Amino acid sequence: MSRQSTVLVTGAGGQLATELARADWADDFNVIALGIEDLDITSAVSVAKALEQHSPSVVVNAAAFTAVDAAEEQRELARAVNVGGVHNLVQACQETDAGLIHVSTDYVFDGQGLRATNPDAYLETDTPNPVNFYGQTKLDSEYAALALEKSVVLRTSWVYSAIGHNFVKTMIRLAKEGKELGVVHDQLGCPTSAADLASAIVSICQAEMVHRGLFHCASPTTASWWDLADSAVRMYGVDHIIDQITTEEYPLPAKRPLDTRLDCSSLRQSYGIQLRPWQEALDEVVSELIEKGF
Ligand SMILES: NC(=O)c1ccc[n+]([C@@H]2O[C@H](COP(=O)([O-])OP(=O)(O)OC[C@H]3O[C@@H](n4cnc5c(N)ncnc54)[C@H](OP(=O)(O)O)[C@@H]3O)[C@@H](O)[C@H]2O)c1
Repeated sequence: MSRQSTVLVTGAGGQLATELARADWADDFNVIALGIEDLDITSAVSVAKALEQHSPSVVVNAAAFTAVDAAEEQRELARAVNVGGVHNLVQACQETDAGLIHVSTDYVFDGQGLRATNPDAYLETDTPNPVNFYGQTKLDSEYAALALEKSVVLRTSWVYSAIGHNFVKTMIRLAKEGKELGVVHDQLGCPTSAADLASAIVSICQAEMVHRGLFHCASPTTASWWDLADSAVRMYGVDHIIDQITTEEYPLPAKRPLDTRLDCSSLRQSYGIQLRPWQEALDEVVSELIEKGF
C-alpha cells in the first residue's frame, strides 16, 4: 500500500476494536474505528454510507453479538448482527473493492476431539459442528465473509483485555470481593489477548492481505477456564482459592464445546505471525488493570 490507506474498524468500544484503535500501525495507515451509532452493521444503508464516506482499503469487522448464552434467547438479533452484518459488509466491500478481515471463533467446533490430522488441536481443514447458536451464527458468518475474494477470516478463542466485559475481569472482581468461586477445569482452549489479535491484524494489513482465506489465530498455549482464572487472580495479587468444578456442575443456557484448542501453524507459515503464550499476554493485561486501579 503506497499511499496512506484507511482501515475502517467496526464495533468501536468492544475489546478488539479498542485494541485495534490503539495498536502500533505504521504511518501509512489511517485507522478509523466506528461504533454502532455511526456504523450499524445490521443496516445495509449504514454500512454503504460509512464505506462511501471513508473509502477504506480494508474493513476489519470487530463488531459482533458475543454474548454466548444470550444468543440462545435473542436468536434473531444474534443472527442479524453476526450473519446479516457480515453480508452487508461483504456487499459494500465488493462494491468499493475493499478487503475484509473478519473474526470468528473456536466455538464453530464441537470440541469432541474428532480431528483429521492433529489430535491435539483443530486445523482449518477440520469440520466445524457448532454446539450452540452463537457458534452457528459465527460459522455462517465465515461462509459469508469467505464469499468475498479479498477476505481473511481469523478464528480466535477466549478473548480478554483490560477493557469491556470479560472473564478475566469478572474473576478478579469476584476474588477481590471474597466470593466463593468455582470454575470449570474440564474445558480447554487457547486464551487470546485482544491486543495480540489486534497486532496480528496489523501485520496482515501491512502484508497487504496477500494470503486470503481462513486462519486460526490464538495463543499457542493451552488453558482450562480454571487455569485462566487462577492465574489472573494470582497475578493481580489476590490470595483466593478457586475451586475446580466440571462442566456438568455448571449448567449454562448455551452448551459449551469441551476442547477447542486451535492449531495456528497455517498463520505462522503464511504470514510469519505467532501470538504470545497466554501467560505472557495475561500478565500485561493484569498489569494494565492494576495501573488503572481496577
Ligand atoms: N470475546 C470472546 O471471548 C471471543 C472469543 C472468540 C471469538 N470472538 C470474536 O472476536 C470478535 C471481537 O470480539 P470482542 O471480544 O472484541 O467483542 P465485544 O467486546 O463484545 O465487542 C463487540 C462490539 O460490537 C458491537 N456491536 C454489536 N452489534 C453491533 C452492530 N449491529 N453494529 C456495530 N457494532 C455492533 C458491540 O456493541 P455493544 O457492546 O453496544 O453491543 C461491541 O462494542 C467477534 O467477532 C467475536 O465473535 C470473541
